[in-house]
Amino acid sequence: MRIMTVVGARPQFIKEAVVSRELRKKHNEILVHTGQHYDYNMSESFFEELSIPDPDYNLGISGGSHAEMTAKMLISLEEVMNKEKPDWVCLYGDTNSTLAAALAAAKLHIPICHIEAGVRTHSMTNPEEINRICTDHVSSLLLAATQESLTELEKEGLSDRGIFVGDPMYDAFETYKDKVQLDSITLRKLDGGEISVPREYYYLTCHREENTDDEKLTQILDAMEELREKTVYPVHPRNTKRALKVFDERKYNNIILTEPVGYLESICLVNNAMKIVTDSGGLQREAFFARKQCVTILDFVCWQETMVGNRNQLAKPDKNDILEKLGAKQIIEGEYKPFGDGHSSEKIVLAIENY
Ligand code: UD1
Ligand code: UDP
Repeated sequence: MRIMTVVGARPQFIKEAVVSRELRKKHNEILVHTGQHYDYNMSESFFEELSIPDPDYNLGISGGSHAEMTAKMLISLEEVMNKEKPDWVCLYGDTNSTLAAALAAAKLHIPICHIEAGVRTHSMTNPEEINRICTDHVSSLLLAATQESLTELEKEGLSDRGIFVGDPMYDAFETYKDKVQLDSITLRKLDGGEISVPREYYYLTCHREENTDDEKLTQILDAMEELREKTVYPVHPRNTKRALKVFDERKYNNIILTEPVGYLESICLVNNAMKIVTDSGGLQREAFFARKQCVTILDFVCWQETMVGNRNQLAKPDKNDILEKLGAKQIIEGEYKPFGDGHSSEKIVLAIENY
């Protein structure tokens, strides 16, 4: 079969790395990069490090409002789909690249396989929620990372298209978790210079539209500054200017602001951190895979499966709330593996073949 995969953002490259390897054993994959993420350390570095084949197309579309970005992608993706006439379009997650590709493919009657289907935050102010719901409803095959996601699909009358396959983020974590050692990592500081990773540290990431105003970022960083150990904080480019400005005003001593790190470095930092503070869907799950306690700064739950035994707790972007949640005791009970067995990629390819 000729299968077109559309990716555009950092977390999609990671999933694509493991799924593409399986897909290409028997099928012809046409890889399209929308260009949504474009800095070297947000895009190319993932292709290099994870040996993802070069995209057949890079549409070079990024930035602007949601409508602007999605609309430009929709036009270009329709052209590419008309030219290539794939048998399937494969999509990951909930970015604007996902939504644009879903709309283009559905109108051309190309069946869509949505990987990571059925995730719901039940918050319509979260832009990704709109992308997820629309994509699920126009897709033919809905591949769920967890049973919880499958239940969400049932609630929307989509269960006949849904299959539980597990989470390719877990496949990736299991495949790559030991590839880099902590003492080989050199952090590139945002204001210049290099530094090694401290022996004990918290790992912070923060990039959501919902969290990126000066006041919220200040509260988050004020909380991290209070802790005895240092915080390693690789800054998503959405936040670079703001983070540098807040840093300049508040003069934090305990927080290391760095350029985005590579994926292998990031999972090594997760595996060795004391605790994780984040608003990232990927980091929440990686913390769970690594059995590290996580505090998620969002007012909605993305991954209910991780919210057991204080392993992942929501906090407001408020210094005291973050510190309180960081102080809670984590309880890990026995074997609990809601994200599958680390072989979701094989199941994804089988599901397409058996459709
Ligand atoms: C997007 C996804 C989000 C996902 C995240 C992963 C949507 C609506 N959101 O959010 O679901 O969690 O990717 O990281 O699609 N920028 C750069 N260089 C880059 C990439 C971005 O400078 O390589 C800057 C640009 O100014 C851009 C801004 O960051 O306008 C935001 O990027 P965008 O892709 O729109 O959203 P993300 O926050 O990355
Ligand atoms: N990540 C990375 N470098 C960084 C920060 C994060 O490689 O500097 C990885 C992280 O380990 C996770 C993924 O990027 O696997 C998550 O991406 P992001 O937080 O941008 O998006 P989300 O998962 O929230 O959609």
